[in-house]
Amino acid sequence: MSEMDRPRETLEMAEGVHWVGVKDWDRRMFDRLIPLPQGTSYNAYLIQGEEKNALIDSVNPGFEESLEAKIRKHLDPTQLDYLVMNHAEPDHANGFSHILSLAPKARLLASEKGGEMATSLYSISEGRIETVEDGERLDLGGKTLRFIDAPWLHWPETTLTFYEEEGILFPCDFFGAHVATGKFYADQLGEIALDYAKSYFGEIMMPYRQRAKRAMDKLQELEIETVAPSHGVIYRNPEKILRAYRSWTEGELARKVLVPYISMWGSTEEMVEVLVETMASEGVEVVPFNLATGSLGDLARELVDAGGIVIGTPTVLAGPHPNVHHIVYLAKKLNPPARYLGVVESHGWAGGAIREIAQLTEGMEGEIVDTVSALGSPSKEDLKKVIDFGKEFAAKINSI
Ligand code: FEO
Repeated sequence: MSEMDRPRETLEMAEGVHWVGVKDWDRRMFDRLIPLPQGTSYNAYLIQGEEKNALIDSVNPGFEESLEAKIRKHLDPTQLDYLVMNHAEPDHANGFSHILSLAPKARLLASEKGGEMATSLYSISEGRIETVEDGERLDLGGKTLRFIDAPWLHWPETTLTFYEEEGILFPCDFFGAHVATGKFYADQLGEIALDYAKSYFGEIMMPYRQRAKRAMDKLQELEIETVAPSHGVIYRNPEKILRAYRSWTEGELARKVLVPYISMWGSTEEMVEVLVETMASEGVEVVPFNLATGSLGDLARELVDAGGIVIGTPTVLAGPHPNVHHIVYLAKKLNPPARYLGVVESHGWAGGAIREIAQLTEGMEGEIVDTVSALGSPSKEDLKKVIDFGKEFAAKINSI
């Protein structure tokens, strides 16, 4: 879809508050890493006070003209006084340079670190940037914005903006979800909205869980009526997403075992099947995840609250299958709260995968409970070991 053909709809969320973002229906990857099966959106918001006007967040490269056209539906950009940059990543901040070129009196508001990044990333001159402090208020005339310092969500400069009179929180990536949909509100999507948010949390926020928890603590004093992130849908009844974020940031665990696995000739798969059946029969929720076909977003979502992770891999090239190597590396970086880890492995003539996985998982929050290894096709004795291991692992999960 060309810029000219894009719809120019905006949404009035409250008196003088409009969504002026864009929906990116076609995007399929983010950071060349995160799959976007549902696309995404870049939500920007226009706040018109009696005296001053502010734009909160902007849009991804390539959507500047859409943003401009949507702002023009409500005011001439020369009437913009403030551009609030909650986060400096290009999907939200790249559009500011274009808007600044149309708005001669506008100043970019950001944290101190954000201001530095606006200059280094977008060459915005220091004279057009104003630093906002934690807790600082800005009166637009009948509408008050409060800035909340919340660094490392997920970059070092991040802030949240709260419109006090209507209780609308603009948290940029925090509470976000990668989805482009014809709906604007989470309650119009149903339960799947929380799944999208959970995948996003796993992919983007979980590595910074402690920082995210601190941000949640700070938000407790606010009377939040609406959560308006800069990706995905808006929460006008935010209790559910706030409760979910409290649980995810605190690392609350489910009695659930995630089993990421891959199999070359069926031996690992046979062991995984026995393991899954054993743990399920012990009353544990088990999520087998085939790394040959699964999506990173689904894996990240399950990592958010899995109490345990058991990896299934063949030994190949004297180590774990490369897909497993990649996912174990990534899982460690995503900082999941899982308490227990395990490995089932098969090999044709010599092992090696378990040793390497043990090295890779060093420093993870969970510890390896046990491992099972099989030479060739798993024998009855091997499968008995898998069953014993599955029962031991399930007992630990059931004790969570
Ligand atoms: Fe959506 Fe971190 O940018």
